Amino acid sequence: MLDTLITDMRTLHAVADLRQRVRGWKRNGLTVGLVPTMGALHDGHLSLVRTALRATDRVIVSIFVNPTQFDNPADLETYPRVMEEDTRLLAEAGAHVLYAPTVAEMYPAGFATTISVRGVSEGLCGGHRPGHFDGVATVVCKLFLQSQADAAFFGEKDFQQVHVVRRMAADLDIPIRVEACPTRREADGLAMSSRNRRLTGPGDRDRARALPQALAEAARAIAGGQPAGPVLAATREHLLAAGFSDVEYLELRREADLAPMAGFNGQPARLLAAAWLAGVRLIDNVPVPAAGA
Ligand code: PAF
Repeated sequence: MLDTLITDMRTLHAVADLRQRVRGWKRNGLTVGLVPTMGALHDGHLSLVRTALRATDRVIVSIFVNPTQFDNPADLETYPRVMEEDTRLLAEAGAHVLYAPTVAEMYPAGFATTISVRGVSEGLCGGHRPGHFDGVATVVCKLFLQSQADAAFFGEKDFQQVHVVRRMAADLDIPIRVEACPTRREADGLAMSSRNRRLTGPGDRDRARALPQALAEAARAIAGGQPAGPVLAATREHLLAAGFSDVEYLELRREADLAPMAGFNGQPARLLAAAWLAGVRLIDNVPVPAAGA
């Protein structure tokens, strides 16, 4: 819990060591929280750690740049890796264990299992990144089983990922609570993301804020009764005019199960987008409040 912050965080690399530590905690009746990450931590991740510390007695943060969820080898290669800085941030935040397995530990020779979640993983990011959610579901399932955590904490920026992980855990009877935490944003509204570090060209970072602004405006217009189709078409044009090179998707989906919505019908909905700016793929989503909310 937050009032018992300790700074003697342990870094573990092996499943056996993680299991041993968790066994000790559980023997003492302590609850365990897990924050799965790929590192290059920002305040969005640290807020998940703070939430986990409030909700559970011991918090594990995993850092593993999972090769099986990258559909693009260049993206995997250039994914930021700053382990020293991450370790310091997590120790300061009060995490109890940093779990940083190697690729060989997670995927030993002969590894042959893939978890594929139908339905919620289709379309949106799943439609544009073949195999991505198979990689996510498989590695998160392994992290759940390795950590034996009581609760796991994910950011809503990856809204579709939260749905995929929840479905996977429910379908496989993994006894874990999957908590979705609100997206953390920079002062100008840009959703915090490890990929923002790559917006290094002149003006790129300023241009990026057009994404959350356009989504917020579109959500307001749709909630206010304007037809979704024309609003989304105008939003797409706006993003391209603002300097985005491509809008991969921009869609209205039902919040509860991500079912496509041709128009807003008053049920809670989400507007989700992925768009490219200066070679960087940014994703974001905003709620479209239910009528009368
Ligand atoms: O959101 C992420 O950083 C990753 O997809 C996750 C959940 C850590 C799985 O590799």
